[in-house]
Amino acid sequence: MITGATGSIGGALARTYAKDGCSLVLQGRNADQLALLSKECIALGADVSVVSFDLSDLEMTQRWCGELVAGGVPDIVIANAGININTGAEQSGEQWSQMEDLLNLNVKSTMMLIHHMALAMKQRKAGQLVLMSSLAAYYGLPVTPSYSASKAALKAYAEGIRGWLAPHNVGVTVVMPGYVSSDMCHAMPGPKPFMLAPERAAKAIKQGVAKNRARISFPFPLNFGCWWLAVLPSAISQRIVKWMNYGG
Ligand SMILES: NC(=O)c1ccc[n+]([C@@H]2O[C@H](COP(=O)([O-])OP(=O)(O)OC[C@H]3O[C@@H](n4cnc5c(N)ncnc54)[C@H](OP(=O)(O)O)[C@@H]3O)[C@@H](O)[C@H]2O)c1
Repeated sequence: MITGATGSIGGALARTYAKDGCSLVLQGRNADQLALLSKECIALGADVSVVSFDLSDLEMTQRWCGELVAGGVPDIVIANAGININTGAEQSGEQWSQMEDLLNLNVKSTMMLIHHMALAMKQRKAGQLVLMSSLAAYYGLPVTPSYSASKAALKAYAEGIRGWLAPHNVGVTVVMPGYVSSDMCHAMPGPKPFMLAPERAAKAIKQGVAKNRARISFPFPLNFGCWWLAVLPSAISQRIVKWMNYGG
């Protein structure tokens, strides 16, 4: 099951898994895009069912979780849907209403979905949970503070539940991509070094998930650089981030 399947990374993941003849549950808001993707995946050999609603509506997400548990939890759940906001061209700051929308989708609905799937997988003693974080989780970027915070929350949550679920044969992977070509990526301010095509990102994610990797982070040079931002004294990291043109 893939949320945010109508986007770049989600769509590429759906096509990648479809080639193996998987049964796919694809979620997105854009029903037309979902129908197109579904046709493509069926042509590639998959069984497909689609569900279209706004995940930031937490009551609907809660109901959907109940339906998924009642109907049989998928083997792999990829919580990929997400949005990004930024401090604006004039650095005037984020709007609270947008921050709330972002937190509802990126953090609350993702954790709600993963939590319900985790309990069902734990009982079944099988399954793989995948949470889509970002390299922005290593260090808060001044141009995207709320986004960075939301992705750091998912990284920490994934790391925590991985240990909790390991004795029950349930795997948990956190994915931390660098720049992957998509509408969201292109709308983000700042430089975008080492940008990958979504197909390449999807291949790396699928391979890592099959091995139950704790963390899938890429591409290597950007991953290495961002990791240093987390371990260096913060005053140095702030200077690097400013020097790299990510604000501050
Ligand atoms: N691209 C990058 O450089 C990059 C880097 C690091 C992490 N990521 C993460 O990767 C994930 C996918 O991003 P992407 O680059 O593929 O972006 P994208 O092409 O903009 O796709 C975003 C997806 O999220 C869905 N979505 C947005 N708001 C939603 C809502 N309220 N309810 C349900 N679905 C909603 C969109 O569905 P609709 O279009 O149908 O509304 C779309 O399928 C995100 O979590 C993002 O933070 C991306």
